[in-house]
Amino acid sequence: MGILALVYVLAIAIFCSSNVNSQGVTLVPAIITFGDSVVDVGNNDYIPTIFKSNYPPYGRDFKNKEATGRFCNGKLATDITAETLGFTSFAPAYLSPQASGKNLLLGANFASAACNSTVTTVTIFQGVPREASKGARRIGVTSLPPLGCLPAARTIFGFHESGCVSRINTDAQQFNKKINSAATQLGKQLPGLKVVVFDVFKPLYDLVADPKKNGFTEATKGCCGTGKVETTSLLCNPKSYGTCSNATQYVFWDSVHPSQAANQILADSLIIQGIALIS
Ligand SMILES: *[C@@H]1O[C@H](CO)[C@@H](O)[C@H](O)[C@H]1NC(C)=O
Ligand SMILES: *[C@@H]1O[C@H](CO)[C@@H](O)[C@H](O)[C@H]1NC(C)=O
Repeated sequence: MGILALVYVLAIAIFCSSNVNSQGVTLVPAIITFGDSVVDVGNNDYIPTIFKSNYPPYGRDFKNKEATGRFCNGKLATDITAETLGFTSFAPAYLSPQASGKNLLLGANFASAACNSTVTTVTIFQGVPREASKGARRIGVTSLPPLGCLPAARTIFGFHESGCVSRINTDAQQFNKKINSAATQLGKQLPGLKVVVFDVFKPLYDLVADPKKNGFTEATKGCCGTGKVETTSLLCNPKSYGTCSNATQYVFWDSVHPSQAANQILADSLIIQGIALIS
């Protein structure tokens, strides 16, 4: 589980002090995203790590076909969510020279070295009161996805199973129960704060279980390379043999990260669930 846990832990979006304009339309003035590689907008470019994605074919369907350090062929679910809420630029990486205290969209990262969900949960929620005191009042926390359905998990741990690795999915669901109760607790401790847990387990699980329903043809392997193990520039790089020519019908871009097309479906679900947060 080491590598998977390292690259796929939690994403948190903080919607700072949401307000309402004269027409009664709710506005979201700022979004700060915290998370791992699933929401990284390129902090990995500025830190010494082997987990890089600032190489082709990463970014080949992004604006200007640029490999920005996003672990995707195109936009992340958080980019699509921000666009839908009216933001017109892409979030800079917190560690990049373009980032400043004035950015209304910002992609931060925490080192997701915690393979232990207890530690992860505690770390996240300890950070929250400090952020809350700076004005963040609405926090969306995403649940864990069905980790046992990631192509890398199927390759490495799925030898006796034909579908997703059920043991790993069960662990993710147990973690999700804990994160739900931690969020409820936090809401009681800090009445001025609204915390909503966004379920990403079900939307991604449904997509993998019945890809055709949403126009996908491949949900068991990623587009990059053989799609079974490749992730990050170590294995998903310009020399990877077998990379698909069009990722539109692939649920996964590499063996761990969803494609832009899947991120669109995830973002649609986040936006529906997010109405509870901004209303
Ligand atoms: C996870 O971390 C907690 C708190 O540090 C510790 O009590 C627990 O034993 C750890 N669990 C595992 C499986 O390492
Ligand atoms: C990928 O295929 C879709 C239709 O399935 C098409 O709309 C899109 O333009 C194609 N993209 C590229 C880069 O060829």
